[in-house]
Amino acid sequence: MAQKTIAVLTSGGDAPGMNAAVRAVVRAGINRGMRVFGIYRGYNGLLNGDIEEMNLRSVSDIIGNGGTMLYTARSEEFKKKEAQERAAAFCREKGIEGVVVIGGDGSFRGARALTACGINCVGVPGTIDNDIACSEYTVGFDTAMNTALEMVDRIRDTAQSHDRCSIVEVMGRRCGDIALQTGIATGATAILVPEVEYNIERDVITRIINTQKTGKKHFIIVVAEGVGGVHDLAKYIEQRLGIEARATVLGHVQRGGSPTVRDRVVASQMGYEAVSLLDKGLGNRVVVMRDGKITHLDINEALDMERVFDTKLYKVAMSVSI
Ligand code: ADP
Ligand code: F6P
Repeated sequence: MAQKTIAVLTSGGDAPGMNAAVRAVVRAGINRGMRVFGIYRGYNGLLNGDIEEMNLRSVSDIIGNGGTMLYTARSEEFKKKEAQERAAAFCREKGIEGVVVIGGDGSFRGARALTACGINCVGVPGTIDNDIACSEYTVGFDTAMNTALEMVDRIRDTAQSHDRCSIVEVMGRRCGDIALQTGIATGATAILVPEVEYNIERDVITRIINTQKTGKKHFIIVVAEGVGGVHDLAKYIEQRLGIEARATVLGHVQRGGSPTVRDRVVASQMGYEAVSLLDKGLGNRVVVMRDGKITHLDINEALDMERVFDTKLYKVAMSVSI
């Protein structure tokens, strides 16, 4: 039987752990007797012919590195049908039968389009935001939260020394998971997320006043990027309560850094699973975590799902963060 050839790319925003997933795809593929190509800069690599055959040593010493050794990109061109057909033709020319796409749901739409052009694709969820509805977990989330945790702990030191209120914006455009879990873990007095409508008086000011009554003099407010407005919120708190307030936007610091154990292990499991699906000739699938287990779903089904916010965890946060 002819040797199977597959490829791997990373696309969209990078996330710590993407390297571990690339490593798993390369090694699991080669160990199954496949040839494995790395595609550089997302879908652009298929349009520009920017690919390279990988060997077991091509992915040495990357499991602990943040970012992605394959680089990443957002390719507007690839959204066009003509470009997708061209990418598929390029794959056929190189003998590439299947592609593992590591990225977010935008990247999965690209994977669905490429599968429709005859190249089997399997998605692996990689984004710090944990905003992919079909999977309980996305590679990069744990590292990003731990980075945010360390930063907020540092901010707390100085907020405490000055009896101040610190407002910290963490990443998450549509998803409040980083804010919610970091807020709980750092003892934030208030946590604002895009999934829950808020009222400044009820959800910030009253919570600070109630906490003040118990003797607390410094406060942390964690705000998700999708809610925003941290500088205005700091000014409002100063005027309304007479407490000195400072705002910090953590930004891209959360996207970098060495991945945690969880991200390295989940990325390895998901990369391995993606290769087994391609080996079975399956495409248009996404590897996901459900009930703590690694499994897979059809991409159409996966993209149709709606994210469910963990309202129980939010209740816990509101009850213990005082
Ligand atoms: P993420 O994968 O992190 O959600 P994006 O939404 O930016 O990031 O998508 C990454 C890339 O996936 C895009 O730049 C584009 O190349 C590809 N992509 C996104 N949506 C589509 C689509 N509808 N059809 C084809 N390709 C798409
Ligand atoms: O990866 C997701 C994310 O980190 C969002 O939280 C953020 O809004 C976005 O990416 C920023 O991406 P970029 O700066 O690469 O455009």
